[in-house]
Amino acid sequence: MAPGKPILKITGMLGALVAVVLVLTGRASADRYPLDTLSPKSDLTREILWLFKEVTILDSIVLAVVVVALGLAIFVFSSRTGEPGAPSVKHSDMWLEMAWTIIPALILIAITVPTVRTIVHTQPDRWPQGALTVRVVAHQWWWEFQYPSLGVTTADEVHIPANRVVHFELVSEDVIHSFFMPAIGGKRDVVPGQVNQITLDADVPGEYWGQCTEFCGTEHADMRFRAFVDTPGDFDKWVAHQLEPPVKPDSGPAADGAKIFANAPCAICHTIKGVSGFSKEYNFGFRGPDLTHFGERTTMAGSIMDNTPENVAKWIENPDAVKPGVKMPALGLSGPELSELVAYLESLK
Ligand code: CUA
Repeated sequence: MAPGKPILKITGMLGALVAVVLVLTGRASADRYPLDTLSPKSDLTREILWLFKEVTILDSIVLAVVVVALGLAIFVFSSRTGEPGAPSVKHSDMWLEMAWTIIPALILIAITVPTVRTIVHTQPDRWPQGALTVRVVAHQWWWEFQYPSLGVTTADEVHIPANRVVHFELVSEDVIHSFFMPAIGGKRDVVPGQVNQITLDADVPGEYWGQCTEFCGTEHADMRFRAFVDTPGDFDKWVAHQLEPPVKPDSGPAADGAKIFANAPCAICHTIKGVSGFSKEYNFGFRGPDLTHFGERTTMAGSIMDNTPENVAKWIENPDAVKPGVKMPALGLSGPELSELVAYLESLK
């Protein structure tokens, strides 16, 4: 054996061990990584992280034992049979064989029991009274959120109350997607013709990132969303506001923009409650996000950019330039017409 090779092997293994230790101690993770699974903010993600750590610690112990045994074999017992210092050869040893059967069996049990327990705990069949149902509809490439019991529909940003069980029903309008909010829950596939579910209780108010995690076309990576875990009071306020009718501007650019909206094809795909509704008869074969309270969302276009007048204008002018392959067509609007339409959309607070 070439003298350098065992060293390389051991160095590689030690490197992996250091990486595991860094991850476990949180050194490789920080709040600046918004899709980090190591800072759980719900019962579901906390339990999954606990299982991950338990298995990783067990695996690290096994790795350490194997590395030490390998080191001994390489450096201490390297003499060949017949040479001075050669180990004696045994053809059978009952105790040794029992040990290497029983110890791995115990390790497998130590991994299996908590794994099965976590699988059972994370099944969505634990719906206590008072759970809030949110229907998540996946589209290429944006997320729609419906609250059937509250009569609210929104897009790109989901609000849920802290310390209350939320039951997500996941459906797809087109292809297979996957719903994942690393800090609070998921991931679970969203499959056409099927209703998948996730139940969780998020307990730390805050803003968390979500992402589609099943390749669903060219803009899969830009199929993002935000999850806002609100205090119960803030959530009630948000719901009350969502139930209010949309702003109807009387004059100024926003009022002119409202007329442009109603006469442009926007109104065929996008709902603004009391103004326009998705038309099953005259649609392009797909639906766009509900815009009733568009102006108060912080992000847009699958949560890939901040909701600012500049970004809205850029998006409407040429959606395909922002998100190649997107279903929203360019409407040929520019100049004052475009800025009036943007003013109207931004007024929908
Ligand atoms: Cu939707 Cu990937």
